[in-house]
Amino acid sequence: MCGIVGAVAQRNIVSVLIEGLRRLEYRGYDSCGVAVLAGGEPHRARSVSRVADLDAQVGEARLEGVTGIAHTRWATHGAPVTDNAHPIFSRDAVALVHNGIIENFESLREVLRGKGYEFVTQTDTEVIAHLIHSLYRGSLYDAVCEAVKQLHGAYAIAVVHKNEPNTVVGARQGSPLVVGLGAGENFLASDALALAGSTERFVFLEEGDVTELTLGGVRIRDREGRDAEREVRTVHAYGGAVELGPYRHFMQKEIFEQPRAIADTVPQTDTFDAPLFGDAAEAAFREIDSLLILACGTSHYSGLTAKYWLESIAKIPTQVEIASEYRYRDSVPNPKALVVVISQSGETADTLAALKHAQKLGHRHTLSICNVSTSAMVRLTEMAFLTRAGQEIGVASTKAFTTQLVALFSLAVTLGKLRGHVDAAAEADYVKHLRHLPAALNSVLALEPQIIAWSEEFSRKENALFLGRGMHYPIALEGALKLKEISYIHAEAYPAGELKHGPLALVTEAMPVVTVAPNDALLEKLKSNIQEVRARGGQLYVFADADTRIVNGEGIHVIRMPEHYGMLSPILHVVPLQLLAYHTACARGTDVDKPRNLAKSVTVE
Ligand code: M6R
Repeated sequence: MCGIVGAVAQRNIVSVLIEGLRRLEYRGYDSCGVAVLAGGEPHRARSVSRVADLDAQVGEARLEGVTGIAHTRWATHGAPVTDNAHPIFSRDAVALVHNGIIENFESLREVLRGKGYEFVTQTDTEVIAHLIHSLYRGSLYDAVCEAVKQLHGAYAIAVVHKNEPNTVVGARQGSPLVVGLGAGENFLASDALALAGSTERFVFLEEGDVTELTLGGVRIRDREGRDAEREVRTVHAYGGAVELGPYRHFMQKEIFEQPRAIADTVPQTDTFDAPLFGDAAEAAFREIDSLLILACGTSHYSGLTAKYWLESIAKIPTQVEIASEYRYRDSVPNPKALVVVISQSGETADTLAALKHAQKLGHRHTLSICNVSTSAMVRLTEMAFLTRAGQEIGVASTKAFTTQLVALFSLAVTLGKLRGHVDAAAEADYVKHLRHLPAALNSVLALEPQIIAWSEEFSRKENALFLGRGMHYPIALEGALKLKEISYIHAEAYPAGELKHGPLALVTEAMPVVTVAPNDALLEKLKSNIQEVRARGGQLYVFADADTRIVNGEGIHVIRMPEHYGMLSPILHVVPLQLLAYHTACARGTDVDKPRNLAKSVTVE
């Protein structure tokens, strides 16, 4: 999704800006641009292609400057065309980049038109540029502080003015923005990752903050306009470059990284105790009587899977909601419920808003399960469990999902133990199984050649059904989401028992039906559902555990999973579905890591 980079230095900063954009590229964007102050005015280059193209343009135009801003845009208001690409100018004096959405842009536009401002883009961003220009009285910092009072919505901005050749001003509300501190130079970015290589010292701006960066230092005002001090944090984590290595795509690399990611995420302790989830957990976990899980997309599916574990192992009532729905409905808050937000990025706008909504409703106990330690979500919750997936580049979430499952399983065992439902022997057994997961996953990854053979057939389909039962129903949902988001094949998932209540009407010889078939208590029921499909000529593609006695036959294709993994089976069963989606997408020639219309971190509502 949109990315911001800004810099003020005593050297040409164009390469810093371009490198910053490159580091944010994986998040998805449809245009990009850069502006620098040089010779008393802003100059810009913009592209509706890749950052590499922008870099070439910048080189040809010999764009150079010591102060500048840059942006990757993911279109919300206005098509992805050059005119709408940021930086947006106001009267060749102000240049501005913006992440987020300004909800009252239409009324502001009318007011500004009345003052003679001409609008040349379809963006909501242009009102911010003109507004700041209209309020400028010799201090960009003051003008931005005034302007943000009139903005409704979520935003992060970076802005420069031709009269202040060594100043960048930033502001944030609902979208992340971080200041990077250098020696005699300072930086701004929507993610600290963009500034790797330039600095390791960061200030994470708070909601409503406005900041002014100059060569001499950084000033911050809070939402009330008071001078504010913010903690400086050292973050080394971004050093490692994101290399593809021998893999064809980041998604493939990330699928194969799962044994390592899971080994790193499994708690290193021999027992499961509350402090694994933070200092406050000991007291909080004793107070709670239920869980409310809020998340989006794949993270929502990890929550759905965890519901089975939490209710079965910990016997604790668990509700799982799509974050963007929860925040807009009238719910009955239960202050004794633990609110769990799950997110790879920790910056997903819908999940963040749902968390804040829950807090406003009086929920005191909040826990984030997140892959980014410095994210807004981790900072906003009382407790946190960090997944150790490492940076995930592919838009399709893979290793983030399986590590979330590990975190949630650990939560279920911890709560189960605390509530007297998990004894020492059961705990030791869970520990043993978690520790063996990486090895078990390696065996599943070895199925890749068989899955590639299936993917050739799938690549010629336009629809697919996914079936699962019990805790494997969310795994079927995840398999369908993976297939549709990267191969653009329409895919739906159903609990297998639901088939006869409607979707069976879709089943013909042309319909592949992917079935997740673990050797569990629901197997016999699932076999009946398989027969229902076969009787209508549907083509079954079954991932069956050993001993299920589901065998290859007319219209039934079976890939045998190496071992049955009991309660942790969903973590193994999702992997062949990831591989199936990946190889089908490759066979169709889609842009696997950056599927159309999607972004890695969805920071707008
Ligand atoms: O960063 P988050 O986990 O909060 O992101 C949530 C969803 O946007 C994300 O899982 C999305 O559904 C992925 N593209 C799925 O592969």
